Amino acid sequence: MRSRAIITSALPYANGEIHLGHVASTYLPADVTARFLGLKGVEAYHVCATDDFGTPILIQAEKEGREPEEYVAHWNRRDREDFEALGVRFDAFSSTSSPENVALAGEVFLALHGAGHIYESDVVQFYCEADGKFLPDRYVRGRCPSCGAADQYSDLCEACGGIPDEIEDPRCAICGNRPVKRGSAHYFFRLSGFAGRLEEWLEGNRNLQPDVKKYVLNWIRGGLSDWDITRDVRWGVPVPLEGAGGKVLYGWFDNHLAYVSAAFGLLRSRGADPEEFWNGADVYHFIGKDIAYHHYLLLAAVRMGLGERYKLPDYIPTRGHLTLQSRKISKSRGWYIGLREFLGWYPADYLRFYLALVSPYSQDDLNFDWDDFAARVNSELIGNVGNLANRALGFAKRAHGGRVPAPGPYGEADRAALGEIGSLAAEAGALMVANRLDRALRRILGFSASFNRYFQHAEPWKAGADACVHLSVNAVRSLAVVLHPFVPESAARMWSQLGLGGGGPSGQRWESASEVALGAGHEIGEPAPLFARVDAEGVRRRKEALGGGGRR
Ligand code: MF3
Ligand code: ZN
Repeated sequence: MRSRAIITSALPYANGEIHLGHVASTYLPADVTARFLGLKGVEAYHVCATDDFGTPILIQAEKEGREPEEYVAHWNRRDREDFEALGVRFDAFSSTSSPENVALAGEVFLALHGAGHIYESDVVQFYCEADGKFLPDRYVRGRCPSCGAADQYSDLCEACGGIPDEIEDPRCAICGNRPVKRGSAHYFFRLSGFAGRLEEWLEGNRNLQPDVKKYVLNWIRGGLSDWDITRDVRWGVPVPLEGAGGKVLYGWFDNHLAYVSAAFGLLRSRGADPEEFWNGADVYHFIGKDIAYHHYLLLAAVRMGLGERYKLPDYIPTRGHLTLQSRKISKSRGWYIGLREFLGWYPADYLRFYLALVSPYSQDDLNFDWDDFAARVNSELIGNVGNLANRALGFAKRAHGGRVPAPGPYGEADRAALGEIGSLAAEAGALMVANRLDRALRRILGFSASFNRYFQHAEPWKAGADACVHLSVNAVRSLAVVLHPFVPESAARMWSQLGLGGGGPSGQRWESASEVALGAGHEIGEPAPLFARVDAEGVRRRKEALGGGGRR
């Protein structure tokens, strides 16, 4: 682990709200990791941005009668608010259409062009003679050749989900006329030229997930195609060459560069040398598996083409898709839960806790299940963690005047409990470092459960159990520290009930979770129930509402 880290989360497209699927695969694991690294004393920055360019966004803006700039600014604001409500902290939240990113994308294009990694080639495309425009795929609609549905995009049939080879009876989406085919010069990024170096990098980087590496290597062995990196639309980064004829860069050329431009802007504002920081840091890009190709190959090759001026990622934590009640999420079918909607029902920490517990560090799909959500929150977060905090602090309050009692002599069970505290930070920490956030959380819950058993057995209401109260209050402190990355708001409340200040658990060192830090006589705060149970009736209603035809 290096003493500096850059953490990025995949950039949300600026045309729709954040939903539970995004949270589970990307933003939550990234935030948990950033908070953990902070406790480890790493100077870690978590950056993100909205992904603003691209034809689908332009079309949506036009449909709503707004300028694309105004449209993406709306989603940028909205995403910031939603992430904040979830407790996902960004040190910078920029946008791909920021002046810095547009400038960087232009520079990168020129550098790659100058080094011979970009070439020109003719592409035959639809062209509308009435509008005098080349039509990107989304601007051509017609009959789907596989299912026969009318009025579908030429690159996506929304009726059957297929990607049409050749749309039938094509029409210009702007004016409805029949477009013709015409050749136009596009720019291509020579991805094929990087096959050898990509293979070497993938094989040499031991931090990348082996299962993803395997299928990415298979893509390389199957042959890489060069990337058409230009489009004929008005919403994008202009190709910075004379005679580029109003072409713009494809969104996937400029979007990942916002990892760099957002981080560099932040670092500069903090007085750091951005290149030195980036290149000396552990670089993490958190993504969902649907964009593995873009990150393991395209992004990596672009950085190689720049002579590794910006170091390649050390980690690309890649997670699977979220299903809802074991079915694929679909907004149009109402089989979907928006983040904002969810946070109107339950505290952010309930969602963070549940998703962290069920998201493995792998490509496997993970499932949101309402009954499982209620059961795990009620039994683990509330029945286990909340219960221990309640018991230990409540008892110290009632029987010891709100102070941590002196331990007295340690018996066998007390020594075992002391050992539990002693091993928590290292054992849970090792799992965190290995990106096994779900397993780390289970390890932490195991710690809490063992203290609940210890407390139960010691019968502290009888004489001679002061050691148990002493250690149990300390165990609550340990829990507040190690739970901070997962459930920051609840950890902060535990902290204040412990009577502690000092910037809250986020200001502590992770290792301090293995110390008996609260000495005899420490005065705790006001114990109060930390959580309210998830009631069965509410969950039943949410389940029923699913699939109820779109927005509710
Ligand atoms: N907007 C893209 C998506 O949602 C992700 C872009 S991540 C980037 O699939 F870094 F490459 F920009
Ligand atoms: Zn037209």
